[in-house]
Order: sequence, then C-alpha cells, then structure tokens
Amino acid sequence: MPNDRIAPSILSADFARLGEEVDTVLAAGADMIHFDVMDNHYVPNLTVGPVVCEALRKHGIEAPIDVHLMVEPVDRIIADFAAAGASCLSIHPEATRHVDRSLELIHDKGCKAGLVFNPATPLDWLEYVIDRVDLVLIMAVNPGFGGQKFIRSALRKLERARALIDASGRDIRLEVDGGVKVDNIREIARAGADTFVSGSAIFGSADYAETIAVMRREIAQARERVA
Ligand code: DX5
Ligand code: ZN
Repeated sequence: MPNDRIAPSILSADFARLGEEVDTVLAAGADMIHFDVMDNHYVPNLTVGPVVCEALRKHGIEAPIDVHLMVEPVDRIIADFAAAGASCLSIHPEATRHVDRSLELIHDKGCKAGLVFNPATPLDWLEYVIDRVDLVLIMAVNPGFGGQKFIRSALRKLERARALIDASGRDIRLEVDGGVKVDNIREIARAGADTFVSGSAIFGSADYAETIAVMRREIAQARERVA
C-alpha cells in the first residue's frame, strides 16, 4: 500500500503572504511543499530562487520542501538550494549536459534527487540512472505555468514508470505534476503515482483542508480498487 503524499505547489499561492499560505496549507493536511523554480530560459516564466526557500525555513517551515528546478544550466544552483534548506531537488534531463553528474551533485549536497519527464520526454532517460534517483516526476503539463489542463498521456507514462520503479526494487517516489484536481486524482493514483503536486486546485479553492481531504478520499478509493 503506497504511502501517498500531497504536495501543494506554491506557484498558485499568494506570494505576498507566502509564509502564512504555507503554514495554512500544511495545517490543512499537506505533506510537503512543492517549490517551482523557473528561469525564463528553460521555461518561459520566472519565479523564485534559493532566497525564498531559505526564508520559508527561517519562517519555521519544517515540512519537506520539494524543489522542482526548471533552470538551465542547473548545476550551479544546486548547492545554493541545498544550503537554503531544500529536501529534494528535481532536474529535467534536457536542462543539464550531464544528467548522471547533476544527480550525483545533488546527493553530494545532502538532498534527495529527482528526475523530471516532460510530456514528450521518453522514460528511457531513467534506465541507467535509476539507482541514482529518489524520485521520478512525471509532468502532465508542459512546464512553466500553473492552471493548465492535464495531458492524458501522462497516465500511460505513470503506469510504465511505476513498473520500472517496482522492478528496480528501490525506494523511489513517483510524483505527478500539472493539472491534478479533485476529479482526476483517483485515476492518476490508479496509474501508479504516490506523490501528487497540485497548485491551482488547492490554492484556488476556498477551503484548503476540505480540498486536500477530498483528494485523500479519492486516492483511497483508487487503492481500494486494486486491493
Ligand atoms: C508547472 C509547475 C507545476 C504547477 C502545477 O510548470 O511545475 O508545479 O504549479 O500547477 P497546477 O496544479 O495548477 O497545474
Ligand atoms: Zn512543479
């Protein structure tokens, strides 16, 4: 039985009240915080850097901070995020010249390492580095913006990734990011995800606790079907 986790993406939070928003969403039942870093180069948007991650730690956030690096090149910023209190750093294979080296660098800095797959990126990248990753992140939208529509081919990719992870016998999280909502999270869970990023569906809702509770109920239904 997977230990499912919900990871609200701060991209859809009110940045003027970020510390309070993160406190509220954690009190509402979130397991970790998804922190989207965009550079206006690898993706056509610009967000926040290590200073903001450090500020959340100084504010008192103790939950895992799951940093999604949409940054090219990525290596230089890895040490900064590790020092800023990131728990896990995920990289896109297209955003680094040397995927294996970047993953090793993340571990050297004491963080968990994730590899991210865009909608058109094949899972082949995983084959020779599966022993170096702690998390596989399947994008269900093209990276860059919150509030986009879920791309359904991600379900097939989640199924394949789940099979690869299970066959590896390693403790690897399977995370999904983009367009995750109350009304599709059940089939996403059924496809094999165990970590659910959700930005607009949580921060855009009137009651974060209620939304997270409904998401957990939907995930539980998916687990019942396969039990
Ligand atoms: C998109 C980001 C996502 C985004 C998800 O590039 O990686 O984490 O915040 O937002 P929603 O849940 O609104 O699709
Ligand atoms: Zn993300």
